[in-house]
Amino acid sequence: MTRRLLVAGNWKMNGLMSDGREFIDKIKKISSDVDILICPPATLIDFMVKVTKGSKLSIGGQDCHFEKSGAYTGDISASMLKDLGASHVIVGHSERRANYKEINKVVRAKATMVNIIGLVAIICLGETEAERDNGKMLTVIETQFLESLPEIATSDNTIIAYEPVWAIGTGRTPSVTEVAEAHRKIRELAEKKLGLNVAKRLRIIYGGSVNQSNARELFAIEDVDGGLVGGASLKAENFSSIIEAGTF
Ligand code: PGA
Repeated sequence: MTRRLLVAGNWKMNGLMSDGREFIDKIKKISSDVDILICPPATLIDFMVKVTKGSKLSIGGQDCHFEKSGAYTGDISASMLKDLGASHVIVGHSERRANYKEINKVVRAKATMVNIIGLVAIICLGETEAERDNGKMLTVIETQFLESLPEIATSDNTIIAYEPVWAIGTGRTPSVTEVAEAHRKIRELAEKKLGLNVAKRLRIIYGGSVNQSNARELFAIEDVDGGLVGGASLKAENFSSIIEAGTF
């Protein structure tokens, strides 16, 4: 069973119009077999969808509300992202879980809405450093996975991003063995919940300080199907090297 690698960039709250244009000009030239997704701030989605039309690049959102529309000042809905041409939406990123108290139930509601309107949800999960030090890594992964996954999840509408919180933006990554263990656990859970065939096709990507130097080693791990890249996705040269690292 071959799963296509996905290299996804999460720009977080970075990027103005000029950055988007320059970035896309460089990235569009790459020829690679991996799927490439960029999740810029919502303000750039429309522009980036237009300039990447006809290329292999997909554009996604970083978050959305769990309702379709309504009185939610400042929020953005999954259908609005779809309307702009986004194909994916990240939900449950640890920065949202920590800063906005998004619990698993909320993450599941968001992912469900993303799926209902026909987009792919990238569901993030991962343990904090304290949880890891207390030996709770696998239990945390299990709870987050089971409680955040929508009932309607399939391998086509869902991607799991394993992102240990302590590895995000810190330059620290778990060892290859630790990443392999976490991803294997997620695939086992997926098998129990969704069945063997779906689990085999489900993409589980790794996030947390992925860079040009460690991408190849991480992407070579059996159950790692690509990466969710924060800091290193902001510069086209770095992001290109990570994409190239996925071409074996
Ligand atoms: P990082 O962020 O690559 O800067 O560690 C990853 C993420 O938050 O998705």
